[in-house]
Order: sequence, then structure tokens, then C-alpha cells
Amino acid sequence: MTDVAGNQTSGSGAEHGGITRRELLIDAVVGLTFATPILAAVFAAVRYIIPPARVITGAAERVQVAAVADVAAGQSKDFIYRDAPYALIRIDNEFRAFSKVCTHLGCIVDWKGSERIFRCPCHNAVFDASGSVVSGPAPRPLPHLKVEVAAGKVYVSA
Ligand code: FES
Repeated sequence: MTDVAGNQTSGSGAEHGGITRRELLIDAVVGLTFATPILAAVFAAVRYIIPPARVITGAAERVQVAAVADVAAGQSKDFIYRDAPYALIRIDNEFRAFSKVCTHLGCIVDWKGSERIFRCPCHNAVFDASGSVVSGPAPRPLPHLKVEVAAGKVYVSA
């Protein structure tokens, strides 16, 4: 196939300013391949410097995390507070809130409602329903939040 200027083309598509459609497509794919990680890195850097707004009410950062009816006795509800994972647990009619970050090496602990313990899947640390270390390598109890119940809703604060 020959173009208007008499140049030989591959026949794979129309030319645009001396570049075939195939070359244009390859350039676009290569450009996107290199641009995507760069854009992702720029986005991550901007999010690090300017973190997203948090939904926190009041200066004391008292936040509603559940309704009383949401958590049955012995059960838990996970929530995020100040960008960290926590678990609200209900022991009979008392609510408690603990960090889910293991004090050993930072794995996320799981609440085992039937045993009333937090267990870390990484090195098997066990914490009781007061956040105290029962066994395993964890050096400290799980940090906790203050919990208040008002008008059927459960609030936490630091
Ligand atoms: Fe939890 Fe090691 S990180 S026991």
C-alpha cells in the first residue's frame, strides 16, 4: 500500500501526520504504561501530604460508631477511629472499644465472641475482654477508647 506522498505503508491503518494508526496506538499504550505508576505515586504523595477529611464531630472527637441494637451480647462491630481500626465489643450490656492493632508487631487482632478474647493471627497473642494480655508475645494491653451510650447510640472518644 502506498500513501499520497508515495511512501510505502504497512496497510494497518490510516496515517496521521506521518504516524500510522498502529504506531499511534502503540505510543498510547506505552505512554499509559509509564504514566500510570507515576500518576499513582503523585496521587499517593498528595494524599499523604493532604489526608482526606475525617468525619469527626466536636473538638473531643466523640464519634457515634453503632446503635445499641447493632451489637448483640458477645459480638463486636469494627470501626475506624482516627484512621486506625478498632472493635466495639459488647459484654452483656457493657460496651468496650479496643484497638485492633496487636501490640506485638501490629497485626490485626480478631474478636472471638464465643471465647470472649481477641486473638492475633500472626503470633497467637491473646487478649481478654479488658484488652489485657492473656498469652503470647504481646508486650502491652490493647489500647482502648472511652465509650458512652446515649439515646440508644454508642459513642467513642479518646
Ligand atoms: Fe500479634 Fe505478633 S503481631 S502476636
